[in-house]
Amino acid sequence: MTEMTPVTNAEAQQTAPKTRAMPDAQTVTAVTHWTDRLFSFRVTRPATLRFRSGEFVMIGLMQEDPKTGREKPLLRAYSIASPSWDDELEFYSIKVPDGPLTSRLQHIAVGDEIILRPKPVGTLVHDALLPGKRLWLFATGTGIAPFASLLRDPQTFEDYDEVILTHTCREVGELAYGRDLIDHIRSDEMLAELMGEGFHEKLRYYPTTTREESAKMGRITDLMRSGEAFADLGVEAPRSETDRAMICGNLAFNLELKAMLEEYGLEEGANSDPKHYVVEKAFLD
Ligand code: A2P
Repeated sequence: MTEMTPVTNAEAQQTAPKTRAMPDAQTVTAVTHWTDRLFSFRVTRPATLRFRSGEFVMIGLMQEDPKTGREKPLLRAYSIASPSWDDELEFYSIKVPDGPLTSRLQHIAVGDEIILRPKPVGTLVHDALLPGKRLWLFATGTGIAPFASLLRDPQTFEDYDEVILTHTCREVGELAYGRDLIDHIRSDEMLAELMGEGFHEKLRYYPTTTREESAKMGRITDLMRSGEAFADLGVEAPRSETDRAMICGNLAFNLELKAMLEEYGLEEGANSDPKHYVVEKAFLD
């Protein structure tokens, strides 16, 4: 039998592994690469985490500080794409080749661990909107993520008679995550049971591309300005009496659409002051 030799503090420091246990670690359960620029992944959900569909959390990986050589968390805000009733958490991300986080995060595999700070926040929540009849969800690129959560939340269809998701991307391949989501929502029987009667008829999907040929081309902002989007959907332009909206995309898109909604007479709401529309940036690296 070998005797255990007590390790002194000094020795322990020398032999300690370089990577210390990760704080707030969650395990990756699935990874899907949609294009060479886009991927989604699922992780275990902390037992205590409660969130409202549409909120975001900080997630990331440990990274060595080049100055001190110490490991510290590198975190970014990510919208939770899964609904609040799901056992796991889903995220949808861009891969930025030189991005400090996504250049590494894109290589995660099932069984790996990521950091997830369990403090959800955000404005793309039902609580920030006054009651209305029609809900517009306007997204570009990965900005669809919070809507992937909201579109699988029964409350979305309980609160509105009609829910219109618009998604503008540069190329057709970038629409795949959203298309798959909508197909799943429309065909999954278990989900249908959960979402309540008639929700299928309420859901409208309006994908557009700007740099590759597809069934509907153009920026949603231009398509609204010309009236084409409203004619396609058979609806009027948004009005403060009936319409509510959530915006999530790149900064220029958010600003342009926000100005348009204001012109239609809608006002921006917040958790503490619900009104007609809310905006959030799709966070990029
Ligand atoms: P475009 O190709 O005409 O720039 P990105 O990948 O750069 O975040 O863009 C995602 C999508 O958002 C692209 O289709 C892009 O169109 C569109 N977009 C960019 N800026 C605006 C804007 N101000 N209004 C509407 N759509 C925009």
